[in-house]
Amino acid sequence: MNFVKIGSLKSVESFKEHLAGISKEVPVDGRILPAPQSPLARPLEARPGGFVIGNRWAIQPMEGWDGAADGNPTELTLRRWRHFGLSGAKLIWGGEAVAVRPDGRANPNQLVIAENTLAGLDRLRAALVEAHGERFGGDRGLFVGLQLTHSGRFSRPEKKAEPRPRIAYRHPILDRRVGVTNDSAVLSDAEVETIIGDFVRAARRARQIGFHFVDLKHCHGYLLHEFLGAHTRPGRYGGSFENRTRLLRELVAGVRREAPELEIGVRVSIFDTIPFRPDPARSGGRQLGPGVPEEFSQLLPYRWGFGVDPTDPARGNFSEGIRFLELCQALGLYLINLSAGSPYYNPHLQRPAAFPPSDGYEPPEDPLRGVARHLLAARDLKRRFPELRIVGSALSYLQDYLPHVAQAAVREGWMDFAGIGRMALAYWDLPADCLEGRGLDRKRLCRTFSDCTTGPRQGLPSGCYPLDPFYAGRPEAEALKAVKSGRKP
Ligand SMILES: Cc1cc2nc3c(=O)[nH]c(=O)nc-3n(C[C@H](O)[C@H](O)[C@H](O)COP(=O)(O)O)c2cc1C
Repeated sequence: MNFVKIGSLKSVESFKEHLAGISKEVPVDGRILPAPQSPLARPLEARPGGFVIGNRWAIQPMEGWDGAADGNPTELTLRRWRHFGLSGAKLIWGGEAVAVRPDGRANPNQLVIAENTLAGLDRLRAALVEAHGERFGGDRGLFVGLQLTHSGRFSRPEKKAEPRPRIAYRHPILDRRVGVTNDSAVLSDAEVETIIGDFVRAARRARQIGFHFVDLKHCHGYLLHEFLGAHTRPGRYGGSFENRTRLLRELVAGVRREAPELEIGVRVSIFDTIPFRPDPARSGGRQLGPGVPEEFSQLLPYRWGFGVDPTDPARGNFSEGIRFLELCQALGLYLINLSAGSPYYNPHLQRPAAFPPSDGYEPPEDPLRGVARHLLAARDLKRRFPELRIVGSALSYLQDYLPHVAQAAVREGWMDFAGIGRMALAYWDLPADCLEGRGLDRKRLCRTFSDCTTGPRQGLPSGCYPLDPFYAGRPEAEALKAVKSGRKP
């Protein structure tokens, strides 16, 4: 599909004009304001009367596939977290996904929170805080969370090639993608209760080593997200909305009991679609076709997801997302990070990109449309839930104009925090450059090449291979190039 590359738009005016062809509503500021004038410099309480978060930039959780076999961080992990600290953002949303038990890892290099990794995770948090303190003269207003996860259907705790899915329900499309052929992968209610215990223990440990909050990760197709869509599951954790959200309620009660001072956040895929795949008619050899939804004519009404329109599952729908946020509010949860879909089955929805990862497909739409979809969802939900502290996602594709849109979106109350993910791998101190009134360093802007995803799909650590000289100089960069050019690494 042909679309205008953001880098070819040489001024904010030309970007605005281009964006207006996609959405006339998304606001864009003409000039990046420094602190203290910038809306992105304004502090905000994590909850009424709570911790005052120093500004409106957030670093999204960004996994590195670079943990040690025993679940501890490595030098690469420490480097990434130090960069998060140097970013200037005052909200560190979770750092990265950390598994609450070894068999819930999404890959053999995912971090695990357990007795043997506690000192390592403590060092990781301390490295971030120390880097922040040295660069910004202290850690006032720095709010650091840990993202807790169980990878569920996408668990691959051992060798990369071997999925070990643990699922909420049988799925008519995703089962075959992860090798599920019978019910043995379906978690029993008793196993779910054990996993609740694992999350609660993990939260207590996170508190013990000084994290301000934990994110109970309900996004991207992982276990807690899958349970939100468990319409077809019998028993206490499936069927009705009440049953599908029982896990959240039990987790919150458990964490409050074991770690009462710990703040709780939720990152949720608030809308979704049926899985996509490369269009078979336009794929061949090494050519990935554009993404198309899987065939669903025999699957209507569609009942295997959360935030999906049951009558047209190629579209998202947030009627249940609204109920979910009402529940969060009723539970006294304020910190909400809005994401969408899953990197495994609809990456264009979750992380709009100009270039697909190796297991993806060519963009089925202008990626800017994908960014606008996230922004408009944040606006509508923030209007409905003014008390919630909303973090917006999927901004990196905005590239040169990310700060202009982030600033306008926060100023106009579309979101409370502008979250950056891939941009934080390439150009981690972009928030500081904006707040301190320096121009952008355009050479470091993430251009969404997706190497940070293609690397891990090939068993390599993540990182910005095209733009971060540290990764460009590593032997893995050669292996990645070989994979991309179809040679044997
Ligand atoms: C390499 C990589 C690692 C990621 N790791 C996580 C993670 O650990 N937890 C999570 O919730 N999202 C993760 N994400 C998703 C990002 O947090 C973010 O939602 C996504 O990249 C879209 O935001 P962006 O446009 O700013 O990159 C990851 C994305 C990438 C590309």
